[in-house]
Amino acid sequence: MKRIGMLTSGGDCQALNAAMRGVVKCLSCSGEPVEIYGFLEGYKGLIYGNFRMLTGADFSGILTKGGTILGSSRTPFKLMREPDENGLDKVEAMKQNYYKLRLDCLVILGGNGTHKTANMLREEGLNVVTLPKTIDNDLWGTDMTFGFQSAVNIATDCIDCIHTTAASHGRVFIVEVMGHKVGYLTLNAGMAGGADIILIPEIPYDIKKVVDAINKRSERGSKFTILAVAEGAISKEDAALSKKEYKKKMADYKYPSVSYEIAEKIQKKTGLDVRVTVPGHTQRGGSPCPYDRVFASRLGAQAGRMILNGEYGFMVGYRNREIVKVPLEDVAGKLKMVEPDSDIIQEAKMLGISFGD
Ligand code: F6P
Repeated sequence: MKRIGMLTSGGDCQALNAAMRGVVKCLSCSGEPVEIYGFLEGYKGLIYGNFRMLTGADFSGILTKGGTILGSSRTPFKLMREPDENGLDKVEAMKQNYYKLRLDCLVILGGNGTHKTANMLREEGLNVVTLPKTIDNDLWGTDMTFGFQSAVNIATDCIDCIHTTAASHGRVFIVEVMGHKVGYLTLNAGMAGGADIILIPEIPYDIKKVVDAINKRSERGSKFTILAVAEGAISKEDAALSKKEYKKKMADYKYPSVSYEIAEKIQKKTGLDVRVTVPGHTQRGGSPCPYDRVFASRLGAQAGRMILNGEYGFMVGYRNREIVKVPLEDVAGKLKMVEPDSDIIQEAKMLGISFGD
């Protein structure tokens, strides 16, 4: 008999359900009796003992369903060691709930913050297996995270739709893409959608270069320009600021997001009409794309196999086209970013895409 606790933490994404279903299917196909305890709303459920016992029926029909059947929440890692408003020691509470339910292991699905806590629970002696979810694809130790490809599809659709209206009106359009502090989502959706300019956090932009690229297009007779701008895009001047100076600047920031600042500058320098579109959380919503369904199911199945073998303390990752076990201590606290001199960036430049650098 295996007793498994499961939780989804942090921002949701597509294919969380597919991944959990993969774990449970693998375990039940093995013939090993299994009890699944689903903790609700991420680590909160584990801290406060808020769980639901799940059966095979709970995992039926969820392969194609977005969101997470367990709910999610963000419980910042830096607050984990601080008592809650009633003085509860959160880490101790999580351990007690784990031992009270006599769990064999926890299956934790999440991104960067989630992995820091998962690794801490491992250090505290709990058996943990994790699965890499995030639309940002910024988890260290895996080439791919599930949710990413679905989000690329949605952001690309958005750029596709902007294309026709941009062409009709001869405007400059900015599509602001999620991705937190990294540019994978923007880079991929930007290239797939045929954006002319792509701005990502890893390559600080110079607004003069951005304007040059727009003007060059106008001179060549192109009536419109499309920019895919990462929500974390940063100018060269801002990137040169110290952390303290940057924080101060952001405290007085008057724009809803970076795209609006860039839009204002482009408008002033070119006189062109500029519009901003922010698809926002639609990028995390809806049904997982086929790639993510397959990918999350594969990772889930491998996590199930690891549990059957009693192999704990790993994230199930994907490297060089193989599913791999990545030690949690190697994943926690590291960010995977786009390499500015990587092949894909060079190829995008060969295609005439400007990164504003
Ligand atoms: O990490 C996923 C993500 O969607 C980021 O791309 C984005 O910056 C953030 O979460 C938004 O978080 P929230 O849903 O808490 O607004």
